[in-house]
Amino acid sequence: GNKSVIQTDSEQAPHRKIVLGFSQLGAESTWRIANTTSIREAAKEAGIELWFENADQSQSKQFEAIRSFIKQKVDVIAIAPVIESGWEPILQEIKQAGIPLIILDRLVNVSDPSLYVTYIGSDFYEEGRKAGKYMIDKMSTKKDTIGIVELVGTEGSTPSISRGKGFRDVIKDRPNFKILKSEVSDFTFAQGKQVMKTFLAKMGGDIDVLYSHNDDMALGAIEAIEEYGLRPGKDIIIISVDGTNKAFEKMAEGKINSVVECNPLLGPNLMQAVNELIQGRSLPKRIVTPESVFTETMAEVEVGKRKY
Ligand code: AHR
Repeated sequence: GNKSVIQTDSEQAPHRKIVLGFSQLGAESTWRIANTTSIREAAKEAGIELWFENADQSQSKQFEAIRSFIKQKVDVIAIAPVIESGWEPILQEIKQAGIPLIILDRLVNVSDPSLYVTYIGSDFYEEGRKAGKYMIDKMSTKKDTIGIVELVGTEGSTPSISRGKGFRDVIKDRPNFKILKSEVSDFTFAQGKQVMKTFLAKMGGDIDVLYSHNDDMALGAIEAIEEYGLRPGKDIIIISVDGTNKAFEKMAEGKINSVVECNPLLGPNLMQAVNELIQGRSLPKRIVTPESVFTETMAEVEVGKRKY
């Protein structure tokens, strides 16, 4: 039978809240913190009981959290997976327990798509393409080689894989755009700064463009560039992803040239999906969040309006 029926028809009726177990991958970035806040707030608003576990970037910690959700018979499980691979066995366990699963933010690479109900999140490949297209426009007057360095997020994560691929696909027929160096920097400010430092030490003068997979790493890199004695946004064109308030501030100062938006405010979408699932409705396999691109010219108007 359906253990998750909610009775709302009479005030005397027993009213059990829907329990949602959510395995969040970590707290590595401003985006991630905003994502967690959005989920907590939306759960409250929707009257859904949220069991929240933070995995600190560890997939095995995510497995632990999921197994405890199964054991305690939550109504729905949601996962924001740290990396794409390795999920098939645990997803089988969830399926065997009869608990519907929602994948949030990042994707899992599984051969059987019936293992989850829906995947809610951004189109990271398109984000990468947007970054590449902006760069091509911005550099259109430069005829000689354009040296690019890339700060990659978490290795094996959907946003890193797809942002890298989308960007490369856009420049693949333009041999003057050269990726000089590409390195994993875990989506964090500290790593972004550290890795940018090593890029500058090795090839400072050859770097025309920095493509950073998120704002935190870009902000770290800006510090490294300034310490090295170059002007971020002028000597080195900077393109980032997310669209945090802090990045908009830097863009208004001309230190970031463009930010591709990635929306972390997925809480309302998730709670709606949970409610619809429990009501027995079918959901689309893919729910994509609409996103924009921002450039320096709009930064000052937008800077106060950001919600994260
Ligand atoms: O999965 C989304 C990415 O994860 C965001 O772009 C990044 O900031 C976060 O850490």
